Amino acid sequence: MDSGHPVVRRLTGLISERGPISVADFMEIALGDPDGGYYATRDPFGVDGDFTTAPEISQMFGELIGLWCADTWQRIGAPEAFALIELGPGRGTLMADALRAMASAPDCLTAARIHLVENSPTLRDAQKQKLHAHDVTWHERLPAPGDTSLGSLPAIFVANEFLDALPVRQFVKTGDAWCERLVAHDRAADVFAFTPTGTAIPGGPNADRLLADADEGDIFEESPAVISVAGDIAAHIAAHGGAALFVDYGHRRTAIGETLQAVRQHRPIDPLEAPGMSDLTAHVDFQRVAEVAGDHGLRSLGPLDQGAFLQRLGIRERADILRQKADDRQSRDLNAALTRLIGSSEMGTLFKVMALSEQRIELLAGFDSQS
Ligand SMILES: C[S@@+](CC[C@H](N)C(=O)[O-])C[C@H]1O[C@@H](n2cnc3c(N)ncnc32)[C@H](O)[C@@H]1O
Repeated sequence: MDSGHPVVRRLTGLISERGPISVADFMEIALGDPDGGYYATRDPFGVDGDFTTAPEISQMFGELIGLWCADTWQRIGAPEAFALIELGPGRGTLMADALRAMASAPDCLTAARIHLVENSPTLRDAQKQKLHAHDVTWHERLPAPGDTSLGSLPAIFVANEFLDALPVRQFVKTGDAWCERLVAHDRAADVFAFTPTGTAIPGGPNADRLLADADEGDIFEESPAVISVAGDIAAHIAAHGGAALFVDYGHRRTAIGETLQAVRQHRPIDPLEAPGMSDLTAHVDFQRVAEVAGDHGLRSLGPLDQGAFLQRLGIRERADILRQKADDRQSRDLNAALTRLIGSSEMGTLFKVMALSEQRIELLAGFDSQS
């Protein structure tokens, strides 16, 4: 462990002052600490980075999401002005590709007020460069319901690999209760280590329902941050109209199991090994997101596999068009990108897509025959 890294120093300082901290606090500091947090200080994408995301694999991904937004705008009644909001936009590639594709629906493009929710100064700079030709408003966090900075407009929210970056709490089945799993610092070995609290705490209705099926030592994860963001998005749509699209790793049904993982230079590592220097993620509980949306009276569609969703939006046809102008090498790259995005042993089934909408909107593109 790099004891001199600002994130490691902050975590060890906090633990020696307060005792072991929650997995959610560990994750939040490791990713978001302004002095050394993983996202705060670097651009982690691509072959030279730690991982690659769908918009960085091919322009087709962002273009199809842009066309989905234009189609959704029509379905919500083609409002004269609407907020187009991306959460966790990375390098801004998805939004740039989406806006280019939306030029085929000029009225929609004119109506769009672009908002990006990004807490990393480094990535915000990358987004500013990529989107310099557009009028964009940045937010460090999603404005709370009632905040007028989104213009009280109908909104279309888009988030690719954003929810999985939000902190999760972990609970360990201990006897006939859930106890929170915490992170301690072993001073002698100078490593972080998991430690159970031994104190029973309410894990919420889903945790309680699953308790009877869980074995001693099983782990249940819940993300208060995902619940809060999904609630704020749902509240906005319920009040002003619109829809949301989430693309992420995750499970369809709330389930027992540990999914917290770390990646560095495209390889999995121990999640406690290199805070601030590795990406930390946890699978999204899509059932929980749907429940939160339902509490606000919204409809949820999916989740369905990314591969099926992109094919319904026409990714194969888009690839055919791009291939017409491609040389041999570009054609090979295009085929490889297509396989990565929709292949069943690649992102095609690993990633899921879920949409939320006002009740009166029955269908959204891509979800037509499976919801
Ligand atoms: C895995 S990256 C995905 C980037 C992009 N959507 C893509 O697909 O290439 C996660 C993004 O979410 C941002 N992010 C993570 N936690 C955040 C938070 N709490 N508030 C705002 N942005 C956050 C990161 O800085 C980064 O832009």
